[in-house]
Amino acid sequence: MSTATAYQPTPAHQLRDTTSTRVETSLQNEVSPNGPVEAELAFYDPPKDGSKPYNYAGAWADNPPEGIPRNFGIDSHKVIIHDIRRHESEFNMDENAFEAHSNIPSKMSYEDWNDDSVIEKIYYPEVEKLLLEKIPGSKRIFLFDQTIRRPGTSRAPVQRVHIDQTAQSTAARVRHHLPDEADKLLQGRYRIINIWRPLNGTVLQNPLAVADSATVRDEDLIGVEHRYPDRTGETAAVKFNEGQKWCYWSGMGNEDRLFLKCFDSDATVGGKGRVPHTAFEDPRTPAGAKGRESIEVRALVFG
Ligand code: OGA
Ligand code: FE
Repeated sequence: MSTATAYQPTPAHQLRDTTSTRVETSLQNEVSPNGPVEAELAFYDPPKDGSKPYNYAGAWADNPPEGIPRNFGIDSHKVIIHDIRRHESEFNMDENAFEAHSNIPSKMSYEDWNDDSVIEKIYYPEVEKLLLEKIPGSKRIFLFDQTIRRPGTSRAPVQRVHIDQTAQSTAARVRHHLPDEADKLLQGRYRIINIWRPLNGTVLQNPLAVADSATVRDEDLIGVEHRYPDRTGETAAVKFNEGQKWCYWSGMGNEDRLFLKCFDSDATVGGKGRVPHTAFEDPRTPAGAKGRESIEVRALVFG
């Protein structure tokens, strides 16, 4: 598990200080809001006509066949989002379906994120090694996808509560990527875990919120057809429920890694093994703060 880093909360009046340019610049670059915050999250609102929910993905995301990206809406709720900084070790994959790791070294430079081949050559082995080290029982890792998020691009932070995969789409992923071994692999334990980190230093805008899996009821998860041009996957949308405990990790930096478990075939783990998550607008974000850039790498974890 991670150890808490030295972290100095900044008094709110300093974040709003407009009298000193020098201090303000350094604050904007280095210090994020922290502590519990109330923010609005976008939950699931079912299609009005009672039809099954779907959205378009991949090459269809920007150009959906029916002219709409999805057939369901948003149900906004204000929730309290707790800060896990300094409480990192209280959360783990089996109980909560997320985990926070600090001080993880990487050879990647900022420019390297523009080159997929460098990401695969340098960053993928780092992620694989980290998972084998941090996930008890893991024996084999298959990294199958990555998304770089940058504000203003078609892959901007996602402000909609979701889970990337379901039981069905996880098994389909195993068959899709490892067809020859799938029968055997699906008999053992298999998980999908996202490894999330910022690319441009301390997150000041659109941090990622996660709902402790142990507080999320199965009834509040709705399978959504995830339609690509050549195949259909499945994600989950999430209904609001007052019992859900929401968390974020304030001030995440380039050396921090948040693990998000999307599915776990081991149904005996306490937290049920899936973590709803979403980017959110933090009302405390200083005006003009840099946008958040991040990468999530998606991993099949066997064993
Ligand atoms: C993810 C995810 C959204 C974001 O990592 O699976 O949904 O805004 N990320 O980074
Ligand atoms: Fe996601």
